[in-house]
Amino acid sequence: MSRKPLIAGNWKMHLTIAESVELARLVATASEQLDDREVMIAPAYTALDAVAKTLKESNVHVGSQNVAYETEGAFTGEISPLMLKDIGVTMPIIGHSERRQLFNESDALINKRVTAALKNDLIPVFCIGETIEEREAGNTFSVLESQLKNGLAGINKEQAAGIVIAYEPVWAIGTGKTASTEQAQETHAFIRSSLSEMFDTSAAESIRILYGGSVKPDNVDALMAQNDIDGALVGGAALKAESFGRIVNFQ
Ligand code: PGA
Repeated sequence: MSRKPLIAGNWKMHLTIAESVELARLVATASEQLDDREVMIAPAYTALDAVAKTLKESNVHVGSQNVAYETEGAFTGEISPLMLKDIGVTMPIIGHSERRQLFNESDALINKRVTAALKNDLIPVFCIGETIEEREAGNTFSVLESQLKNGLAGINKEQAAGIVIAYEPVWAIGTGKTASTEQAQETHAFIRSSLSEMFDTSAAESIRILYGGSVKPDNVDALMAQNDIDGALVGGAALKAESFGRIVNFQ
């Protein structure tokens, strides 16, 4: 199996331009020697261009925290895939639970964003995850399956093979609660088998499935040791060079 691990930092609505550039420099240094894994950071839009310039000579990919579904036009407040590409973004995060919950982004809207990203040669980091109520009601797998089917509707297996999925249980994001490594592995294996049914085994085997939700220096090694966990999407711990540097250097 040749899935290259990906550690992605989602900076959310944090950091000024100067702080972002400084942290990006430190992340680039921490990632310098790593050729068996990939690293990505997704700064706020205001810092994106400066961070992209800072990372130009590094091996760190630049992500965005969302992407519009059209390339241009009257879409106030949106940033198009072409504009993102223009400054060096390669991996837009799409369908993060904060977009779904706080900004009412639906599966249908997220599907349009994923489709547009692929059409413009960007690699979507497509997020899915269940709430605590859904998990306690025993609906985790059906919720994830429906997010996958709706979010990836109309996408063919060749396109699917190039996307990244981030499984982020909503109850684990920013709460300090992590899914146990067994819970995470079980869910990742379920996601991979759903992808295999939706596309085919070869596409499912090449799709990287990241885990997200309170990933920290002290739990990253155990998570990364699981067969179906191919990386991490990190929020809080991505905002400090020391903790993110340790996470990208997982054992
Ligand atoms: P967290 O956030 O690491 O702070 O839990 C993860 C995310 O929202 O991507």
